[in-house]
Amino acid sequence: MILKIVAIIVCYLLGSVSFSVLLAKLLKGIDIRQHGSGNAGATNTLRVLGTGPAILVLALDVIKGIAAVWIGFWVSDGNEWIPGLCGIAAIVGHNWPLYFRFRGGKGIATAIGVLASLCFLPALYAGIIAILSIVFTRYVSLGSLIFVFLTPLFLIFMGYAWPVFWTSLIIGVFAFWRHRSNIIKILQGRENKLGSGGSKKG
Ligand code: G3P
Repeated sequence: MILKIVAIIVCYLLGSVSFSVLLAKLLKGIDIRQHGSGNAGATNTLRVLGTGPAILVLALDVIKGIAAVWIGFWVSDGNEWIPGLCGIAAIVGHNWPLYFRFRGGKGIATAIGVLASLCFLPALYAGIIAILSIVFTRYVSLGSLIFVFLTPLFLIFMGYAWPVFWTSLIIGVFAFWRHRSNIIKILQGRENKLGSGGSKKG
């Protein structure tokens, strides 16, 4: 039991490593949370730093989620809840990072890593629909929300185990909570579109 609790804490600490904040500091000496939408994530890295850094942040944030689930499987001892709890811990760390005054991102890239590791096909199907929605609307936030909304639905229809379903549902609740300002902006037609500059503190 102790090992599992330690693993969950380690995954929170791993998730707390905010690559967009680190890269923005390293490349431009700025706090990315003071620029673009104010979010510490890959989409805002694209706005503020450009394509290369954004791809790097996206990849590293996804890997954080994958690593957390692997750590979970490693210590799980057959307990089906532990990989999901480790994944959620990494997302919580990403959203509320210990090392950066608890001001992080919205957790989508890390959620992609977690969900792709726990339930590859449902995440893939949801991901394809999410990408199509981004292509057509150019709202990354809308695609993010579609991804976390559809994954639990596909999980039910495809008969996955309850621990994975509940994990994906909790991830979805966190994502919707973190995207509250994006949702309001989408409804008002003021949301940043992919390729546009983006207003501060979105
Ligand atoms: O994953 C974050 C994305 O959905 C929205 O980011 O910077 O447009 O608020 P942003």
